[in-house]
Amino acid sequence: RRFKVAIVGATGAVGETMLSILAERKFPVGELVALASERSAGGTVEYRGDEILVQDLATFDPAGIEIALFSAGGSVSKEYAPKFAAAGAVVIDNSSAFRYDDDVPLVVSEVNPEAVKARPRGIIANPNCSTMQMLVALAPIHRKVGIERINVATYQSVSGAGRAAMEELGRQTGAMLNFQDADPQRFPVQIAFNLIPQIDEFMDNGFTREEMKLVWETRKILGDDSIQVNPTAVRVPVFYGHSEAVHIETKTKLTAVDARALLASAPGVEVVDERRAGGYPTPVTHASGKDAVYVGRIREDLSHPRGLNLWIVSDNIRKGAALNAVQIAELVAAAGAE
Ligand code: A2P
Repeated sequence: RRFKVAIVGATGAVGETMLSILAERKFPVGELVALASERSAGGTVEYRGDEILVQDLATFDPAGIEIALFSAGGSVSKEYAPKFAAAGAVVIDNSSAFRYDDDVPLVVSEVNPEAVKARPRGIIANPNCSTMQMLVALAPIHRKVGIERINVATYQSVSGAGRAAMEELGRQTGAMLNFQDADPQRFPVQIAFNLIPQIDEFMDNGFTREEMKLVWETRKILGDDSIQVNPTAVRVPVFYGHSEAVHIETKTKLTAVDARALLASAPGVEVVDERRAGGYPTPVTHASGKDAVYVGRIREDLSHPRGLNLWIVSDNIRKGAALNAVQIAELVAAAGAE
């Protein structure tokens, strides 16, 4: 059976990739509807070589849509996702609008796929990109030996902040090389040839919201509120692909050799861990444009008897957003989208 699918935010960095991944994976699309704001309504996006008309979300009638993939920001999701769900669609939402609601499942396809079934509001949330790639790698370790604590520092690319942010990095890089001013707009300070230890807004506890997403989402997805997470999230001048230096403390010791073997057979993971120059994943050499979560630099912590260090890299727009959303849609479709 084929489904009538809507992409909300079809002109954005994630929306465009959702379209290409639906085509690549031959998702059973009967009819495809592309939606965005009135700014880009009337234009087109490409799907399987065809030009699809972009329609204005504000005036679109969702009746008949069976699966809706939302990636147009939290406020758009808050307003329109319940309307699509009320009209009968299963909504797969890439924003953080519903992620922490108890009656909305938060799903990483390799980690907790069974959670898609209980969706009383007709909404399934797609996790934050940083949490997504971290848990694809850490869930098998947690299942095997238990993880007590996660220390993580992220190195996040600008595409996670959308198309305008990518344009800003390109523009600033050109400006800098021509001895002109950076003129920050989308980021609080210059991003070209720099890095920024702030993603999203500051919370009362001194952490940023992006950092707290790693805490809240890890516990919800693994279904374990006892896991301690200590995050620092940093924006770096990379276009595609997030990297993470992850230091875990396990309940029982896991050697680097055993961790490598465990991860080598974990779904969605590729181990790239040779002790030579270039024998590790980077956003440019491995992750960008690819589906896997790449793990390298696996080594035992010198300072803790049950500590393990990992370097985790993945394409934030693909596994971190569009790919996992489509994988959730596949799980929903396999169950008949009832
Ligand atoms: P538009 O092209 O009309 O601005 P990105 O994260 O790359 O910036 O993309 C954001 C996506 O969300 C775009 O497709 C954008 O459409 C869409 N979008 C933003 N605001 C709205 C809105 N109010 N209604 C519908 N779509 C929106």
